[in-house]
Amino acid sequence: MARKKLIAANWKMYKTPAEAKAFFTEFLPLVAAQTRDEIAIFPSPVLLPGVIEAAKGSNVAIGAQNIHFAEEGAYTGETSVGQLIAIGGTHTLIGHSERRQYFAETDEIVNKKLHTALKHGIIPIVCIGEVLAEREAGKTESVLKTQINGAFAGITAEAAAPIVIAYEPVWAIGTGKTATPEMAAEAHAIVRAEVAKLLGPAVANAMRILYGGSVKPDNASALLNQAEIDGALVGGASLKADSFKAIASY
Ligand code: 13P
Repeated sequence: MARKKLIAANWKMYKTPAEAKAFFTEFLPLVAAQTRDEIAIFPSPVLLPGVIEAAKGSNVAIGAQNIHFAEEGAYTGETSVGQLIAIGGTHTLIGHSERRQYFAETDEIVNKKLHTALKHGIIPIVCIGEVLAEREAGKTESVLKTQINGAFAGITAEAAAPIVIAYEPVWAIGTGKTATPEMAAEAHAIVRAEVAKLLGPAVANAMRILYGGSVKPDNASALLNQAEIDGALVGGASLKADSFKAIASY
């Protein structure tokens, strides 16, 4: 069974509401006929209501960059899954390397967030990836396995179907350095094999594994035409409508 690719935009902490609106005005007509793949955009929380309104009725899904694992509570600065659902969000990123690096997000927290997202029917994109020192020390495989095992603790094969994984080598994020298509495919194969070990081959074969890290219009085609690469999670090059459109048209 072919896996439908997912082309996703992580806007990080960029754009005002007016800039987000202008993006959608330009972007939606460009991809209106794009039904081959799924498209999703992950803006900052403050942009979510406006962006969800702008995307209504289109083929572009909207998600959060982060959620809290608790249903609600005294967690200043955080967003709950219920709040995301109430405004029409359908997806969330979990465990992006910037959250791991700057906000002390551990595999244990990633795991709690994954359980909460699945419980409420939000489609989670679980981000994993090694830092440069780990790659240079030959530890990529063990890092990926640890992250997968940590994230997936207590997740059953029945519950796992909506999960998407994004392999984002940290050394490739925002650096202009990309993993070669072969390096990415190799890492994806490691991840898929580990998911198969945990949840069985059927779940692993159906699970989408995206690549992220300096995906640009000029390298998208080589990456996305790899059979093991089921989509892209794009940072910088997703901020302009024409550039994200070019990636989605790889
Ligand atoms: P860049 O595409 O800017 O390297 O960012 C990748 C990323 O972190 C997507 O989540």
